[in-house]
Amino acid sequence: MEQKQLENEVNKRRTFAIISHPDAGKTTITEQMLYFGGVIRSAGTVKAKKSGQFATSDWMEIEKKRGISVTSSVMQFHYHDKDVNILDTPGHEDFSEDTYRTLMAVDAAVMVIDSAKGIEPQTKKLFKVVKKRGIPIFTFMNKLDRDGRDPLDLIAELEELLNIEGCAMNWPIGMGKELKGLYDIANERIELYRKEGDDRYLPLTNGKLPAGNEELEGEGVYEQAVGEVDLIKEAGNSFDLEKIKKGDQTPVFFGSALTNFGVQTFLDTFLDMAPAPAEHKMQNSDEVVKPDDPEFSAFVFKIQANMNPNHRDRIAFVRICSGEFEKGMDVTLQRTGKVMRLNNATEFMSDQREQVKTAVAGDIVGLYDTGNFQIGDTIYTGKKSIQFEDLPQFTPEMFMEVQAKNVMKQKSFHKGMQQLVQEGAVQLYRTYTTNDYILGAVGQLQFEVFQFRMKNEYNCDVIMKPIGSRTARWIDPEQLDPAMSSTRNMLVKDLDDKPLFLFENRFAENWFVNKYPDVKLTSKL
Ligand code: G4P
Repeated sequence: MEQKQLENEVNKRRTFAIISHPDAGKTTITEQMLYFGGVIRSAGTVKAKKSGQFATSDWMEIEKKRGISVTSSVMQFHYHDKDVNILDTPGHEDFSEDTYRTLMAVDAAVMVIDSAKGIEPQTKKLFKVVKKRGIPIFTFMNKLDRDGRDPLDLIAELEELLNIEGCAMNWPIGMGKELKGLYDIANERIELYRKEGDDRYLPLTNGKLPAGNEELEGEGVYEQAVGEVDLIKEAGNSFDLEKIKKGDQTPVFFGSALTNFGVQTFLDTFLDMAPAPAEHKMQNSDEVVKPDDPEFSAFVFKIQANMNPNHRDRIAFVRICSGEFEKGMDVTLQRTGKVMRLNNATEFMSDQREQVKTAVAGDIVGLYDTGNFQIGDTIYTGKKSIQFEDLPQFTPEMFMEVQAKNVMKQKSFHKGMQQLVQEGAVQLYRTYTTNDYILGAVGQLQFEVFQFRMKNEYNCDVIMKPIGSRTARWIDPEQLDPAMSSTRNMLVKDLDDKPLFLFENRFAENWFVNKYPDVKLTSKL
């Protein structure tokens, strides 16, 4: 593709994730967006989710209904002049490690908040990750068709709990049964509730309704909204695009995803304001790779085996950072220096997979993988070696001993174990002397999913024996004496054969540190 065309294509890309607490309405608003993008015919058709009690069986149910994994879905659609990529981030806390890595692959985030509940724990956790990246965050206060909290309170809470300025882009006129519409501050118009087409908009002149359209006036809720809008215009945070770009201010939109109210205005404004693909920093250097650089580069942020049970495939999700992806292109895998041909790739159109046509910086492609890739890998074309910055690693806190129930199943046990570990959801360790398997994860659900998938995808029942929550600390092999190990600080080795202790608790760790003051322990490699 010509350089000019590449620049145009890249500038059309908008790649973001939606962060929220389960049940705030992420699925519903995603569906509305897919609907506007013409991907689905009516919102509500892909709906298959009840996040509140996120049991393993629900998880499988979702997989089945959507045909793709909820832990990894990437949705692409074209809307107006933009090519949009939405990366799904499972809201349940047990998926957090996966989710965090996904947040490394986006250029902006949408934060959906239930206006009756305000900021909930999972939102706060995910927000912190996004904030650290310094990318723009757009807020959608959802469920306006229900009685919720005072809008002024909701905005104040952003500052109090998340330490981010909120800047109202629109303001509710009533709520719940009293909901009449939205005062669209940014566009100087009223958006009426339960009206279709252009009829739903009333343009404002200097904050006044047009003559003959006084139906709202005299309604208490309208007067109140006008009063509050005046107040926030005067005393609220003023709109500051520079702050928004850095994630120091969030534009706040109110609406109701379920009744499709305020969503389109949100999408329009959001896509206009959200940044085109950003440049990416290289590891251990000040150098950056620009998205319109003609050479292709990308990093792997996720690996998933058996996305489709009928195909038994393994897919490495890569975020393109520069250039254009072309089927059959040769790329270098930085970690090994090996050149490989990318013949088989997929992009993600809602729930059906299609062969990639044009994918440029900002887009996500799924590469069929036969075991070459690891999370965090960089691939590139061109002569210059490129490695992007490391993705965050989360040290597991819960551990299990694991073995195959049937010794005859060792082969599938090893295969499944190897593949699922490569996905990065669970970490594998071996006991130092006996080489028994120990699995570590951030949460309990990951073990359940692991067990379930071992049985269903690899036909291997596994027995897991909890060894509880532990703190992992690596030790310099030079300083290691296996006699330092005890049940309270179990000695194991990681996949690279590096030794580490799993301490039973802080007390055990302190005891160890006091006993061996010269030994250096590290929480990460
Ligand atoms: P999530 O992905 O963030 O977990 O939330 P999801 O969209 O699944 O929405 C959670 C629940 O909240 C759903 O109800 C959904 O219909 C409802 N909801 C989403 N947006 C709105 C809104 O704007 N207004 C109202 N009143 N409700 C909203 P559910 O009863 O759990 O599911 P269902 O029976 O509707 O399928």
